[in-house]
Amino acid sequence: MSRKLRLGVLVSGGGTNLQSIIDRCRDGSIDAEIALVLTNNPQAGALERCRRADIPFLTIDHRRYASREEFDAQMVAALRKAEVDLVVLAGFMRLISSVLLDAFPGSIMNIHPALLPAFPGLHVQKKAIEYGVRFSGCTVHFVDAGLDTGPIIIQAVVPVLDSDNEATLSARILEQEHRIYPRAIQLFAEGRLRIEGRRVLIDPPLTPSEAALVHPPLDG
Ligand code: GAR
Repeated sequence: MSRKLRLGVLVSGGGTNLQSIIDRCRDGSIDAEIALVLTNNPQAGALERCRRADIPFLTIDHRRYASREEFDAQMVAALRKAEVDLVVLAGFMRLISSVLLDAFPGSIMNIHPALLPAFPGLHVQKKAIEYGVRFSGCTVHFVDAGLDTGPIIIQAVVPVLDSDNEATLSARILEQEHRIYPRAIQLFAEGRLRIEGRRVLIDPPLTPSEAALVHPPLDG
């Protein structure tokens, strides 16, 4: 039997995306195992999820390192020791340097709570409401040297309602994050993702829904 894909999941916060990945690895919809969870934040709620699921985790506190590169070098050493194949950023709130990027070429994914390239950066649910967009959503993309600029793997769209605030929109988006991140990881595990320039091609292709979304609705 061939060796399962080994994931290194990087987290900074509560870890609901981590939880969805744990659950989907357990039920077999992701054919991979979590080799290591790394956090920069000793208080991350995600660590309790690791304890409960009996998954190896390690805290590397970024405040102990003089530079981003030194911090990243520690993470690379830990990920290599755990024989990680794919690095999964799941609410990891640090910019990564070329040290991590070069160690895992084409093998780092991130999830972002907006429809990139709209609203890169932080507090993007609030920015989407303030801007007045009718749709927002989430994006899983490969990581490159820019801020939320890498090739896009999968996106989910949600409506922005007149009654929304940052919390309600974030919750609606998060629900979709938990669906699309496991799917992106499984496509990677199946060896079906090919990066061509800015585009990620899926082989064999999946049949997309051709239905358009209109919000507010045209009638009713
Ligand atoms: C998620 O909404 C994720 O998309 C976002 O942080 C949240 C983490 O939630 N990531 C970013 O904003 C990255 N710039 P979680 O800890 O419950 O998975």
